[in-house]
Amino acid sequence: MKMDILLGLQWGDEGKGKVVDVLAPQYDVVARFQGGPNAGHTLEFDGIKHVLHQIPSGIFRENILNIIGNGVVLDPVILKKEIEGLHKFNIAFKKNLFVSKKATIIIPTHKLLDAAYEKSKGDKKIGSTLKGIGPTYQDKIGRVALRVGDILAEDFQEKYEALVEKHKTILSFYEFDLAQLPELEQAFFEAVEFFRTLNLVDSEYEVNDHLNAGRKVLAEGAQGSLLDIDFGSYPFVTSSNTMAAGACTGLGVAPSKIGEVYGIFKAYCTRVGSGPFPTELFDNTGEAMRKEGNEFGSTTGRPRRCGWIDLPALKYSIMINGVTQLFMMKADVLNIFEKINICTHYELPDGSRVDRLTYELNTDNVKPVYKTVPGWHTSLSEVASYEQFPKELKDYVKLLEDELEVPIKMVSVGPDRKQTIMR
Ligand code: GDP
Ligand code: IMO
Ligand code: MG
Repeated sequence: MKMDILLGLQWGDEGKGKVVDVLAPQYDVVARFQGGPNAGHTLEFDGIKHVLHQIPSGIFRENILNIIGNGVVLDPVILKKEIEGLHKFNIAFKKNLFVSKKATIIIPTHKLLDAAYEKSKGDKKIGSTLKGIGPTYQDKIGRVALRVGDILAEDFQEKYEALVEKHKTILSFYEFDLAQLPELEQAFFEAVEFFRTLNLVDSEYEVNDHLNAGRKVLAEGAQGSLLDIDFGSYPFVTSSNTMAAGACTGLGVAPSKIGEVYGIFKAYCTRVGSGPFPTELFDNTGEAMRKEGNEFGSTTGRPRRCGWIDLPALKYSIMINGVTQLFMMKADVLNIFEKINICTHYELPDGSRVDRLTYELNTDNVKPVYKTVPGWHTSLSEVASYEQFPKELKDYVKLLEDELEVPIKMVSVGPDRKQTIMR
């Protein structure tokens, strides 16, 4: 059996949580492979909205196993809160949630370092979620991090203190106030106690055993391809490989065992935090998109920057991920527009046009070139099948498919599980 991957093709918040929840009944296992509590994945059903940060989005489906893989950076305090918050839904965590012993632990000083680094960057700040993601991955690559398996060892406290000493030296260089540290540490050690009661496993064996036994595994991406540490709009990126290859390293699954790669994108574009965004709208249209799409961060509550769909960026993401099926999200948000713009190319300062995202283009100097198409300008709330789509929406889907050369197999027309049209 091969493992399928679902990931975002833009700058995150494409609707991954919703889609994983919708697809989960077709799978036996859902596994997160990178990122951490910087993610905010929203699911809606039975009139309730849930936002998950570290727990995979298959958790609400009975009999589906959820694995947090080795590629994830995990905050025990946030995990404890997430699990406690879900108590009233009677989820069998002991049976359905597994955490890799090789996942990296976010400790309180990682969050302080994140804040110190951001402050020192002034107006060049990344706009990080301040969850300690960058500093934790730095320590992982620097081979000094603590891993989940370490909490089971007797010398955990010593290892923790050695790392905190290193961090304190850096924090004092940045003249960072440590007043909150004791309180953060108390919550951390309480959460670590709780953490010891979870299923801590060698998740690479778990995942491969499931695949070998013919069970279906879905890898759930976090963030989006344009935030990938290697291929995103560096330095305005997150600190992990958000792309399909990250699912191999973040779960221990060989490339030859990858099946479908579902690439999901909004019918328009959003971004939180700093960095280039060629199709960004600074006018009333952008404001209307934000309002209609309720574009405020699921993790930080920050307003998301909004703009038209960007085909050169999508083509790039499709290429680096080997996307086999596309899912278009939030089509209903475009209901309000009489005309819709599609960015087909970028215009360079010398007047030439390209549809590629090259190193030099990763700046603010590219101008989007738009094709304008008529909007459907009608509600999609009664639409139950693709055949019932207004002609203009079908044309929009067809135009994107022709440009992107990958079939659009799902169109989402609202946040609820049920507002999902399969083709
Ligand atoms: P994720 O990080 O990719 O899981 O996405 P987020 O949950 O951060 O952001 C997506 C937001 O859009 C959430 O508030 C979802 O409830 C909402 N959403 C998902 N699909 C649709 C859709 O088709 N239409 C509308 N209007 N909202 C949607
Ligand atoms: P989901 O999984 C949108 C952005 C931050 C910032 C940059 C670096 O919900 O799609 P970090 O805290 O990772 O060091 O921040 O990445 N970012 C996200 N933007 N959705 C996310 O996750 C994001 N996770 C990080 O805003 O610009
Ligand atoms: Mg999100």
